[in-house]
Parts: sequence; structure tokens; C-alpha cells
Amino acid sequence: MKIFWFSGTGNSLWTAKKLAYAAKAELVNIADTRDMDTVTVEDDAVGFVFPTYWGDIPRPAKEFLLKLRAPKDTWFFAVMTSAGGDSGVSFLCIDRALYAQGQKLSLARNITMPGNLLKASAKNEKAILKGTEQELKDILWDVFHRTADFKSENKGPGKRFVQQTPFRSPNALIKRFRITEDCDGCGICAQLCPTGNITVTDGKAVHGKNCANCYACRHWCPKAATVPVARMFGKRPQYHHPSIRVKDFLKK
Ligand SMILES: Cc1cc2nc3c(=O)[nH]c(=O)nc-3n(C[C@H](O)[C@H](O)[C@H](O)COP(=O)(O)O)c2cc1C
Ligand code: SF4
Ligand code: SF4
Repeated sequence: MKIFWFSGTGNSLWTAKKLAYAAKAELVNIADTRDMDTVTVEDDAVGFVFPTYWGDIPRPAKEFLLKLRAPKDTWFFAVMTSAGGDSGVSFLCIDRALYAQGQKLSLARNITMPGNLLKASAKNEKAILKGTEQELKDILWDVFHRTADFKSENKGPGKRFVQQTPFRSPNALIKRFRITEDCDGCGICAQLCPTGNITVTDGKAVHGKNCANCYACRHWCPKAATVPVARMFGKRPQYHHPSIRVKDFLKK
């Protein structure tokens, strides 16, 4: 079994790691596949663990799914982490991408995690994290039993599959960050950025235009020097999953 993951602040990575450990699966960071034209697997079971962004899956996850090639009878499952426990159209998106290869999503489960975007998300963090252990046990039962209760729409991805989101233009609102004078050029944000959107130039972080809104740069910066331009997204104190460290994101 392979489990492909995407994560900004570690919630999805923690979930993927727990699942992989219990199911003896291999973990793959989809950021490491970004330069590949196709991603071919030979496994009979493949999982995806992604965060929910605006009721949808992250853009790099969509790009990755379109490149994935797996054996005909592969059993696919997906776990979405989100602050509200509702991942919107995420599973339909995953199923549509698989449909293009004559496959389908079989198991789809949500897991509620601390939110990493809004100020309100900082509430009840400990209680939410405690709840995830039980949610994960239930999901593992389904993974072990290869439950197949997801209802496919039997539809493929449309032409605008990658760009389309359930909300009109969230990127315009949230993609920009400013770098404060506290930046010391340590490069952690550049190492973590899943799209390679950050470079360190003249001792300061510089952002390009290929942001996937994962918020890793904002939350992992040791100097809190990456600040969202939209003030409402700057109010949430820095967060990362308490069991995840920067090194967990980096290729061994
Ligand atoms: C840009 C952005 C959009 C988000 N949109 C939603 C959303 O629509 N619904 C929701 O419940 N949580 C939303 N969240 C919260 C994340 O889905 C949640 O905190 C997730 O567990 C983060 O996973 P990660 O730590 O693996 O990055 C959003 C977070 C970000 C950064
Ligand atoms: S992690 Fe923070 S301090 Fe380090 S380069 Fe990025 S913005 Fe600057
Ligand atoms: S620039 Fe920041 S928010 Fe955008 S993809 Fe890179 S790490 Fe994530």
C-alpha cells in the first residue's frame, strides 16, 4: 500500500503517518512528485491524505491525481483533514480524477483537526486533537476491511478541473504574504514550500506566484516573519500539529 500526502501544518502528515504505520504502507509526499510527468504505482491499495482548502482539495493534489497511474483493480481511499469536519467537494474531485483512468474512489473519510487559517480555529485545540485518535481508529477499521461505500458520480474531471474551486476566487484573497524585517534568511520556509515558490535572496525570503495556500511558510517560520496580507488570516496564532516537526516534511 502507498499513502500519498500533502500537508502545510502537519495535521494531514500526522494522519498519514499513523495510517501508514498501522497499515504498513509506504508514505509519499506529493510535493516530491511535482517534477514528474506521470506517477506510476504497482500497489493494490492506494491512499490519499490531504487538507481541505475552501471545501476542495489543494491545487497540487489535483495536479498530482491527474498524473497518477495505478493497476486496474487498485482500491483507493481518501482521508481529508479539515477544521469543520466537512471537506465539501473534495472526495468528488478525487473520484473524478480517478474516473479519467477508469478507476474510482472506494472509501472517503473526514477527520476534524485544529484549523490553521482562522482565529476561531485556535479554540479547543487540545480537545480536538484528543478526538482525532478515536476518529483515526474508526478509519483504520475501514482501511483494514477495505470498505467500499463511496458513491461515485461516474463523471470525469472537467476542462477546468485544476483551477476550479467551489468558491469564486479565494486565491485573490489569501495568496499574498509579506515578509517582515524579522526574517533572518534561515530558509526553512523555502525548504518546506511544496510548490518551490520561495527563494532566499539577499538574506530574505522572496515569494513567487505559485502559492498553493498551504500556510506552511507562515506557521513554521521561527521568527513569525511571514504574515498574510489579508489581516483576518494573520490573527490566528502560529500553529503546527504538536507531534510533527520540520524534519518530518523533508525527504530522508
Ligand atoms: C487556505 C485554507 C483554506 C481552508 N479551508 C477550509 C475549509 O474550507 N473547511 C475547513 O473545515 N477547514 C479549512 N481549512 C483548515 C484546514 O483544512 C485544516 O486545518 C487542515 O487540517 C490543515 O491540514 P495540514 O496541517 O495538513 O496543512 C483551510 C485552511 C487553509 C490554509
Ligand atoms: S522561515 Fe522565516 S526567517 Fe526563515 S527565511 Fe523564511 S521568512 Fe525568513
Ligand atoms: S508560499 Fe507559503 S503558503 Fe504558498 S505554497 Fe509555499 S509554503 Fe505554502
